Order: sequence, then structure tokens, then C-alpha cells
Amino acid sequence: MSRSVRRAPAVAVLLVLALTACDGGVRGTPGGSGVRDPYFPKAGNGGYDVGHYDLTLDYTPATRHLTGTAVITARATQDLSAFDLDLAGLHVDSVTVEGRPALFARAGQELTVRPHDDLSEGETFRTTVRYSGTPRTLTDPDGSKEGWLPTADGALGLGEPVGSMAWFPGNDHPSDKASYDLTVTVPQGLQAVSNGELADRSTKGGRTTYHWHTAEPMASYLATVAIGHFDITRTTGPHGLPILTAVDPTQAKARAKVLAQLPGIIKWEELNFGPYPFSSTGAVVDRPGDAGYALETQNRPVFPADQFETGTLVHELAHQWYGDSVTPKSWQDMWLNEGFATYAEWLWQEDHGGDSAQQTFMDLYKGDNEAIWAYPPAKPSSAAHISDSPVYQRGAMVLQKIRQKVGDDTFYDIIQGWAATHRHGSASTADFTAYVERKAPDKDFTGIWKDWLYGDAKPAHP
Ligand code: TRP
Ligand code: ZN
Repeated sequence: MSRSVRRAPAVAVLLVLALTACDGGVRGTPGGSGVRDPYFPKAGNGGYDVGHYDLTLDYTPATRHLTGTAVITARATQDLSAFDLDLAGLHVDSVTVEGRPALFARAGQELTVRPHDDLSEGETFRTTVRYSGTPRTLTDPDGSKEGWLPTADGALGLGEPVGSMAWFPGNDHPSDKASYDLTVTVPQGLQAVSNGELADRSTKGGRTTYHWHTAEPMASYLATVAIGHFDITRTTGPHGLPILTAVDPTQAKARAKVLAQLPGIIKWEELNFGPYPFSSTGAVVDRPGDAGYALETQNRPVFPADQFETGTLVHELAHQWYGDSVTPKSWQDMWLNEGFATYAEWLWQEDHGGDSAQQTFMDLYKGDNEAIWAYPPAKPSSAAHISDSPVYQRGAMVLQKIRQKVGDDTFYDIIQGWAATHRHGSASTADFTAYVERKAPDKDFTGIWKDWLYGDAKPAHP
């Protein structure tokens, strides 16, 4: 992974930036180069909050060349003399802030912008970054590939946890959600599918432009674009919810059966988790191996066809509530995503003639998969382990422990209320434990938190 930070040049360039800073108006200081995430300290940036990303991309699969313009509308949360955006690779052609050319410097994943005039706390400002090049495929601490993944007929942009910076500059941390417009131009004959809803499509001079709009707040790691040949299907689900699916034509026949389950899964999830949080849903199914995993990209999760199965579809759609709408405040809170989505699979089995969640819980407890007990769900051992079984399975076990303690009625109140209370927001593990305690004030959760959520060893009793 090329996320290493080359410090010396950054200091040198910043010195130049500081010397050339102009006087007058507010006197700001630089925003931070990260938001102190315990697992990804350089992810995100301090000093501002993004409200909207307006991204215009042009991509040619044959040459793997991308040109992009990112117009980022943000509000300063302090007086700023400079601020960072996250961007890995690519060439920055120009940066303007409020229409005036800005100085910029690059070091590792940090693109430091020095606006012509300092920005005042509370000020909304617009930054335009023009960039180009071949976007990188990044390797995560756990070895998986993210960022920009070229495929046989196009590419996939995937960003968990820190891959969106491979294809657009931004505040690449789940704590800063924003609305998006993504306009992608590709050679005529190819499709470009993204989050949200298709607002416009036009073809000119042998190239087709797709404009996707995402009104609801979205974390950068959930932004996606899928470029290639796709069979596009539009239907509606419960209460007229628009469904748009995009399936690689070579996979369409084999995947039709699972795809047909999508509306029913949404309906079942609404019954269990409460109203679906977004204005459309769907799925993108690309070829086996195009990605090594499925990802809960907002509105429209992405699947390599070999992982497009009912359980995985239940899992990724459950993330629309738990992860996409209620987003973790930091990567330490990952179990709030994966524990819930895994538990959704257990509940689906329970409701569809399979094992009860309690049975699944007991099988795991008695089973010989020692990896589950390697570390507690709420404290992964390192960035390389945020997507391992203690986060997924043991995270789901925490939910089963709560259900055991409070009974079904209160349990469903809790999981629905949690989704409703933090809808379109960000929440931490401490927010969750406090919420559970408020919903069941007569119960004592101390042991569950201590042994199951934060405890190092396998709890002594199931
Ligand atoms: N979130 C994905 C899921 O639905 C898995 C995943 C893909 C992941 N990339 C990741 C988890 C990076 C953590 C980090 O389970
Ligand atoms: Zn998941």
C-alpha cells in the first residue's frame, strides 16, 4: 500500500506556503491532516465539514485514464489558513478556493490547500480540484484491494475503508457525511452506475454521460461507480421504492433468482429494522473476482457475481440501515456495521425455516473457531483486523446477548429505535450502549459490555 507519508517534502512546501500567505482578514491556522481515527490516523482532515461533493469524471477503460473535477462545498469549523484533502495518487492540475487559484502541496495521501484568503470559522467555501491520471488500486492493511479496480470491461470504484481517495479528493472519513452529484462520462456503449438516482443521461460525440444524484448524507467509503456493460432493470419495491439493478450480462442468467429476492428482502428488513432510509435501492453485480468481496455502497451494494447469494444480499441491504444510514463515528466502531449486518443474516435464517439466532449463537460459542475470541468486537487488535470474525460474528453475538436480556419486544424496539434515532447520522459504540441502557432501564448490561463487547477472552458463559 502506498499510504506511507513522506514527511520532509511536506514540511518544506508548507514553509513556502506559509511565507507566501497574504495578510489581511482573518488569521487562521492549518486544519489537521487527520481526525485522529484510532485505526486510520491520516484518514479525514480537520477544520472543515463537507456538505456536498460535485464530482465530474471522464474515464476510458482502454487507457485507464481518468480526468476529474471535484467541486467540494464545505463549512470551516475553525479559522483556516490551510486545509487538507485526502487523495492517493493521480495528478493535481489545479486547485481553486472560492474561485481564486490556491497553492497546494502533496505528501502521501494528503493534498494540502492554501487558499488565497484565510477562511473564517463558520464560512461556507467552495474548493475546485482538477485532476487526472490512472487511478490506483490500493491494498488495505488486511490485504484486500480497494480504490479503483479495473475490470474486463470497465472499472469499479470501491472505498472501504479508505479507498475513495483513489478516485476523488475529499474528507475520507465516515464521520463527515455529505450529499453527492456524480457525473461520469464513458465511451458510448458502456454504462456508468453509481449511488442515488439517475438524474440525467446524454450522448454526444461517441461518449455517454450519466449524472447520478445522492440527496441523503453519504460517507465517502460508500460512494461507488461501476463502469462496464450492464443489464439495467428498474422496478419498484414496497411502497413504490425505486429499485435499480445493474448486472453484468455474462452473469445475468445465473444471478436472476437471487436478484428476484431483493424486493422481498427489503420488505422483510423494513419489518425488522424500520423504514428503509434512502430514496432508492438496488444492486450492482459484476463478474466473479472483479472485487474480492461485496460492499454495502449506498443505495446500491456491489457484488462480485460469485458472492451474490441470498445471505450476502440480506447482509449488504441490512447495512443500508446499519452502516450507511447510521454510520460509525470511527473505524473502531466497525462492529456496529458488521455485527448488525451479520445478525440480520441470523434473523433471516430464523424467519425462513433455518436455525434460530440463539442456535447460531450457541453453535459459534461451542464451535472450535478460536479466531472469534482473538479480540473484542469494540476494540479490534489493529487496522488489519477490522473485518475479521470478532467484529462480524462476535459483534452479532453481542446483539444476541442483548436479546436474551431484554426479550424480543424490547430487542426489536432497540434495533429499530437505534436506526431511527441516528438516521443519516454517525454514532459510536458508547452512543449504542447508552441507547440500550435508556431503552431498558431496569436491566443491567454491565456484564455484557465488559465480557462480550470489550472483554479480551472468550466469555465464561454463553
Ligand atoms: N463491509 C463489507 C461487508 O459487507 C466487507 C468489507 C469490504 C470490508 N471491504 C472492507 C470491511 C474493508 C472492512 C474493511 O461485509
Ligand atoms: Zn458487512
